[in-house]
Amino acid sequence: MCGIIGIIGKNTSTPKIVEGLRRLEYRGYDSAGIATLVNGAIERRRAEGKLKNLEAVLQANPLEGDVGIGHTRWATHGIPNEANAHPHMTAKVAMVHNGIIENFQELKEELTAKGHVFASDTDTEAVVHLITAYLDEGLSPKDATAQALNRLDGAFALAIIFAGEHDLMIGARRGSPLAIGFGDGEMYLGSDAIALSHLTNRVMYIEDGDWAVLSRSGAEVFDADGNTVERPVRVSDLSNASVGKGGYRHFMLKEIYEQPQVIGDTLSGFINPQDRTITMPDLPFDLGSVTRLTIVACGTSYYACQTARYWIEKLARIPVEVDVASEFRYREAPLVDGGAALFVSQSGETADTLAALRYAKSKGQHILSIVNVPESTISRESDGTLLTYAGPEVGVASTKAFTTQLVVLACLAIAMGRAKGTIEHDCEARLMEALIEVPARAAEVLNHDERLKELAAEIAEARDVLYLGRGTCYPIAMEGALKLKEISYIHAEGYAAGEMKHGPIALIDENVPVIVIAPTDELFEKTASNMQEVIARGGRVIFLSDEPGAKKLGKLAAATIALPQVDPFVAPILYAIPVQLLAYHTACIKGTDVDQPRNLAKSVTVE
Ligand code: G6P
Repeated sequence: MCGIIGIIGKNTSTPKIVEGLRRLEYRGYDSAGIATLVNGAIERRRAEGKLKNLEAVLQANPLEGDVGIGHTRWATHGIPNEANAHPHMTAKVAMVHNGIIENFQELKEELTAKGHVFASDTDTEAVVHLITAYLDEGLSPKDATAQALNRLDGAFALAIIFAGEHDLMIGARRGSPLAIGFGDGEMYLGSDAIALSHLTNRVMYIEDGDWAVLSRSGAEVFDADGNTVERPVRVSDLSNASVGKGGYRHFMLKEIYEQPQVIGDTLSGFINPQDRTITMPDLPFDLGSVTRLTIVACGTSYYACQTARYWIEKLARIPVEVDVASEFRYREAPLVDGGAALFVSQSGETADTLAALRYAKSKGQHILSIVNVPESTISRESDGTLLTYAGPEVGVASTKAFTTQLVVLACLAIAMGRAKGTIEHDCEARLMEALIEVPARAAEVLNHDERLKELAAEIAEARDVLYLGRGTCYPIAMEGALKLKEISYIHAEGYAAGEMKHGPIALIDENVPVIVIAPTDELFEKTASNMQEVIARGGRVIFLSDEPGAKKLGKLAAATIALPQVDPFVAPILYAIPVQLLAYHTACIKGTDVDQPRNLAKSVTVE
């Protein structure tokens, strides 16, 4: 949700800032802008829309300067036009911001009364004028910023430069993520390590409430009370290759194709192949003592949790409640003493999920998280973290993060079953075998890509699409529908197959493709009946099943894809892949922006 970057460099910083913004574009692409210091004065270039528009502006009107800040925006306050594009500035200060300043209206009124003139509708500009007002009173840039930070309500990551200060940049974070990068005689600020991976692999994640004063020779970090603090510098293993498209047309396709590999990488963090058991990292509480589990997430991560509910309830025999974070955090859910709460997030920064975590913590819950970014805030605020090893996911529509989350959740379900004594070793070994097979079977699923592409031509013509599934594949139906909506802008709904007769069946005619997700598991016959109901009403079914399922019912469907036959336990992981490919190819046919669909962003750090 907005990406920021800052560089105090040895030479012209603009090309490096643009490259950083390219890596941050997944966070928003409503506008982009850069400000630098040229002979002590702040100069700025901005453009509405994607980064390429800013690049065109820079080509026509280049920007010199070795100190600079850049921003890519996901609009919150003010429409996405050039006037609202960051950086915001006065003659003395320029700033980029990720987050929301909640008391901006009050600050704006106060500063307007003092004669400050605002040029945008953003909340951010109030902070720029506030710092300027303190500078006008004679405070140093550092003191002016400290005073201003004390007056802000809301969430922010900021990067600030000051006219006439060629060896100074100030960064601050509250709520939104911010990393400091250490170069060779250069220093950097960025929303994440990906933004800085072309510049350095030495990165410091500052903590909530921290702010930092950077010069070319290093960074001084302060906590919210102004005390000097030390934060660890880590060596990030992100390479340039891991954040590139690697020859694929889109990041999303590359990330879909990476799934066999990253599922394997993730699994290897949790399996003990010798005795076919799960190994869990040391957790500060006993999984066997958990009597009730609350799971909270947003978006695609939420659907992974929905599947996990079936697994955990079945294997560990404890009640599991799953909720979206934006609802959970406000409904004052009663949580039992000593209960556990699990938060699942690719980015580890989603604002609603983080707020839900803090609520659960305040109610005495053991906090466990599953994240893809180990240094993320959600991970740091958890009692225990389980990692997905998906690598950087750049496509806004989540794919490999989802399947690796499922893998970790499956391992957790088995570990909980073992800890509760509700599954025997034989059962654990069978489920382990099934999981170990997934990377190879996932690679086989990818062989259906061409056929799925052909089927996408039909979906691309539709106005509405229905996805049906039962049990652990019901959330896959919802995820399939979400993927299609997100990137092709076709209306789609995921429904529990058995619930279709209570409403969506009214939609069915020959123009509504119905994607039926039905591995041959204990619910296969039930789903098959629902498929018959669709066919009886003229609906065109795309049937995703396995060889035995296809043999039995393939003739009835308009199209059938026979996926490898696997233990039903792992089927949802595999069936996620064809629905991703269907959405991907449909979007390509429709000519939408697959990696950066309209109005969306990847790391949602606003509520
Ligand atoms: C956004 C993204 C989704 C993602 C969701 C939750 O909506 O577009 O792809 O699933 O946020 O993000 P998280 O990082 O918490 O998994």
